[in-house]
Amino acid sequence: MDAIDVIRAKRDGGELTPEQIDWAVDAYTRGAIAEEQMSALAMAILLNGMNRAEVARWTEAMIASGERMEWSALDRPTTDKHSTGGVGDKITLPLAPLVAACGAAVPQLSGRGLGHTGGTLDKLESIPGWRASLSNDEMMDVLRSAGAVICAAGTGLAPADRKLYALRDVTGTVESIPLIASSIMSKKIAEGTGALVLDVKVGSGAFMKTVENARELAETMVGIGTDNGLRTVALLTAMDRPLGRAVGNAVEVAESVEVLAGGGPGDIVELTVRLAREMLDAAGLAGGKDPAEALRDGSAMDVWRTMISAQGGDPDAKLPVASESHEVVAPSSGVLTRLDAFGVGVAAWRLGAGRARKEDPVSFGAGVICHAKPGDTVTAGQPLLTLYADDADRFERGLESLEGAYEVVPDGVPDQLPLIIDRIS
Ligand code: URA
Repeated sequence: MDAIDVIRAKRDGGELTPEQIDWAVDAYTRGAIAEEQMSALAMAILLNGMNRAEVARWTEAMIASGERMEWSALDRPTTDKHSTGGVGDKITLPLAPLVAACGAAVPQLSGRGLGHTGGTLDKLESIPGWRASLSNDEMMDVLRSAGAVICAAGTGLAPADRKLYALRDVTGTVESIPLIASSIMSKKIAEGTGALVLDVKVGSGAFMKTVENARELAETMVGIGTDNGLRTVALLTAMDRPLGRAVGNAVEVAESVEVLAGGGPGDIVELTVRLAREMLDAAGLAGGKDPAEALRDGSAMDVWRTMISAQGGDPDAKLPVASESHEVVAPSSGVLTRLDAFGVGVAAWRLGAGRARKEDPVSFGAGVICHAKPGDTVTAGQPLLTLYADDADRFERGLESLEGAYEVVPDGVPDQLPLIIDRIS
């Protein structure tokens, strides 16, 4: 087979055969297709799309490029959640222990942040001593002792995707629904979870800016999961404003602990409980302990503490705090009608919470606290946001990204998406 024939077939709007897909993914992983050839193929896929059979085969080829994990030795069903990423999206932190407290096992492989969306591993690494890298045996030990584990994917999992994602990142080919769907689902299927709930974010702070695009991505991923025998459900949820009040790393851990202690912002609690119910239902555990009860009675907090300790972290340690802060106040009195997720996400990133290149370190203490959310009534001069950074020079650029990102209107009505927009199964 020849790379140029495969590229031409997709460039001219044709359907790739299973043999062409298997060969292209395998040859690229082995280094037998050059980076420039795969970038041409990725661009042809972005422009001309792939049908359901092609996406399914592409996903299978990426799974086959590496190992497939297996959890049948556990005495409970496995279930997992994947979010397409957003601003203030710390849901995995309270969710994994919560679902474990209700009887399922949660093997959660997570990522780091790149750009304005945060990464679960960066947030958890703000806990002194906590380790993201575990061997498969260590993952199994944590799952047995705590019921939930959150860690980094090993290099053996879907190596084709690892290589292709890095290439797409620098060739303008990330924003392709078939490539995003196959990338996410190849890792989740290779992870070996028995059930999967997808949280597909919609709005300025998300990959998918419109409900229409998010629905197409969700349907494609649910289709891939179903075709692979994985019970998969998707929720479309709002990412037009930040989730919760904290955006950053340590500040998001602190907010997650508040939720596990039975408090925390209403939107975080609502989404965490809803996703937990979906995960339990998908795992065949509906009708058992209710997640809202596990937040109230402290059992989810107990799992959190066991899980953090099992990965070397100290759940009682003081979290890092940035040395500098700067307040943004309400320009007038009225209703906060808009707080743009993208603007706040970029601000947190520029303050040091995120990284520009994957090798960069993050600042654990940097971030933004939102004192008001859309719909809240505010008085001129009251704090709207507090920005945190280790270096006061960062405030200027952080503030630039907040220009036009919020609006206070006398007697205004917030124009925002419902928190949970739709469910796709
Ligand atoms: N996340 C992934 O894992 N892959 C993509 O292609 C996009 C987001």
